[in-house]
Amino acid sequence: PSQTYMTKISKLPDNVAARVKELRALINYHNNRYHVLDDPEIPDAEYDRLMRELQSLEERYPEFAATDSPTRQVGAHPLKKFAAVNHETPMLSLANAFSEQEVADFDRRVREKLVVDNVEYVAEPKLDGLAVNLLYIDGKLVRGATRGDGATGEDITQNIRTIAPIPQLLKGKHVPRMIEVRGEVYLPKKGFAEMNARALERGEKIFANPRNAAAGSLRQLDPRITAQRPLAMICHGVGRSEDGSLPARYSDISQRLSEWGLQGTPEQKVVHGLDGCIAYYQDIAARRSALAYEIDGVVYKVNSIEQQQQLGFVSRAPRWAIAHKFPAQEEMTRVVSIGVQVGRTGALTPGARLEPVSVGGVTVTNVTLHNQDDLERKDIRVGDTVIVRRAGDVIPEIVGVVLERRPPGTTPYRIPAQCPVCGSDVIRAEGEAIARCSGALFCPAQRKEGILHFASRHALDIEGVGEKLVDQLVEHDLVKNVADLYLLTPELLAGLERMGEKSAANVHAALQRSKQTTLPRFLYAIGIREVGQSTAAALAKYFGNLEIIKQTDKETLQNVPDIGPIVAAHIETFFRQPHNIEVIEKLLAAGIRWADIKIEPAPHAPLKGKTFVLTGSLETLSREQAKEKLEALGAKVGSSVSAKTHCVVAGADPGSKLDKAQQLGIEIMDEAGLLALLKS
Ligand code: IVH
Repeated sequence: PSQTYMTKISKLPDNVAARVKELRALINYHNNRYHVLDDPEIPDAEYDRLMRELQSLEERYPEFAATDSPTRQVGAHPLKKFAAVNHETPMLSLANAFSEQEVADFDRRVREKLVVDNVEYVAEPKLDGLAVNLLYIDGKLVRGATRGDGATGEDITQNIRTIAPIPQLLKGKHVPRMIEVRGEVYLPKKGFAEMNARALERGEKIFANPRNAAAGSLRQLDPRITAQRPLAMICHGVGRSEDGSLPARYSDISQRLSEWGLQGTPEQKVVHGLDGCIAYYQDIAARRSALAYEIDGVVYKVNSIEQQQQLGFVSRAPRWAIAHKFPAQEEMTRVVSIGVQVGRTGALTPGARLEPVSVGGVTVTNVTLHNQDDLERKDIRVGDTVIVRRAGDVIPEIVGVVLERRPPGTTPYRIPAQCPVCGSDVIRAEGEAIARCSGALFCPAQRKEGILHFASRHALDIEGVGEKLVDQLVEHDLVKNVADLYLLTPELLAGLERMGEKSAANVHAALQRSKQTTLPRFLYAIGIREVGQSTAAALAKYFGNLEIIKQTDKETLQNVPDIGPIVAAHIETFFRQPHNIEVIEKLLAAGIRWADIKIEPAPHAPLKGKTFVLTGSLETLSREQAKEKLEALGAKVGSSVSAKTHCVVAGADPGSKLDKAQQLGIEIMDEAGLLALLKS
């Protein structure tokens, strides 16, 4: 059915009847993918659009309304593999608002029906998880069920019992004889990331989002699998309860739930009127990315339970609550083409051009695909329908392909074997994810990127040397390497396109100014692989001058803090290339200069590289003092014993650390030994 979703409505009732039928079939299909299979095919935003289209058709043409329409149903039928559970009171859904106007309409309807001027609401985040119903009898958890179709859910009691934050027993006062507690089981963002990282390591399928991961984890026949997933739950309401009067306001009921040991919705707030709701929405929207869990909007609920009862329900949702959704972070679009860009180090980055699509309020037309592995794993092809995600300030990315919509005859994309810019061979070193053009300075793309980097703000900061100018300089062969920049005369520059005499003079002056620089800037500017600003600064600080750095071998380079074997090798290789040395000499000849850095003599650190662990209590020194003294001599003091520990200092009543040190055969020292060592 997914092939037909684009069909447009026409005004004719005949076509309306057909479209209504089609929409119902489509929505039922997607309900099944989402609620039963935990494997949605389309983004939520697309689903919401289908639902809204159907709703508005049913409103405009009531003759087509039907009680079995998905607009009047909740979720989907429960799966046969679980025992069925009838909820004591039905579990409903929420109506959605996608704009402030729709929230204002909601507030107006509520005020009119209650005949009041101002309404007290509770505002809380709308968590993206799976709705569940917990049944407590005499304070004991006796059953957990999914929402299912609202009336009947699936019995997942064994799985629910593995979720640590859900109490088996309610504690405290006023526990009713029987109560249904409703809430959302979800995966915190961190747990989701860890779960996917583990799945990736084992070559297993990864989940598209925390909601699917939570649903898939909960609806497992084997509770041991559920137990391994870091699930959590928040409570957002109660169903039936017997004996034990509940407070008269929803906010107080939430408070009561948390006294019993259940987790209420975090960030919950009592607000007044429409303005209070909107202010809350804006506040949460601004903090959304910092929250520990995924949310897709906020929910406003009339706080007074009496008023809630006055308002009642319409088909599948209460009149006293509404979900105010955030703009979608995931949208669907098509891949128009795939290509590669060549970076400064020759790295080829694949990217896709998309049919423009608005995601999270921004139009996206291009996405990068990181590297070949990423591309292969996602198997993105030209013509594919893809789901694009843009969360907060994060760069947009393709999260997956809608395989059901792949047109026939597509082929996987391969990184080209030759550089698209210079034709040199593309090489992918063993074990590396990145393919590179081997053309180095012969490749105009790499040359351009290298020059732009050299002139960039944190490098030599040459104002006016931007992309348009560099393109011309490289294409006319005026600049073959960065040293040639300093041979450019104002006359030569003025002869270029879009260069008046004034701007030519400005660029020339900026070039002259850039000659007075610093060693860290220079080291960063020459573009050694993996040497960013902080590594450049560390190198400069450690060695003080360029001559020494040039001659230092990769072993010695690793003495610099934060320089490991890979970066050290890149630095050594760079300074062993005759053409790099030649360019550096030309730059110096052109007048580039900096003040050498005075290096402070290395502190007396005879214990450098040694790791100590302290255990038990010492007589003459506190543990803190012993730690300070060891660190002053360059040692590291760790908190646990591992194979990397060099020595364990054991005082009186040592703990298990001593046993471990003995097992691992690590040197053990008593207090006298330590004092002697410190003295020597
Ligand atoms: S109240 C009758 N509050 O969103 C009122 N629901 O799209 C029913 N949800 O079925 C729910 N966060 O599973 C409520 N703070 C919240 C919620 C929330 C998430 C879920 C819930 C509901 C669905 C509706």
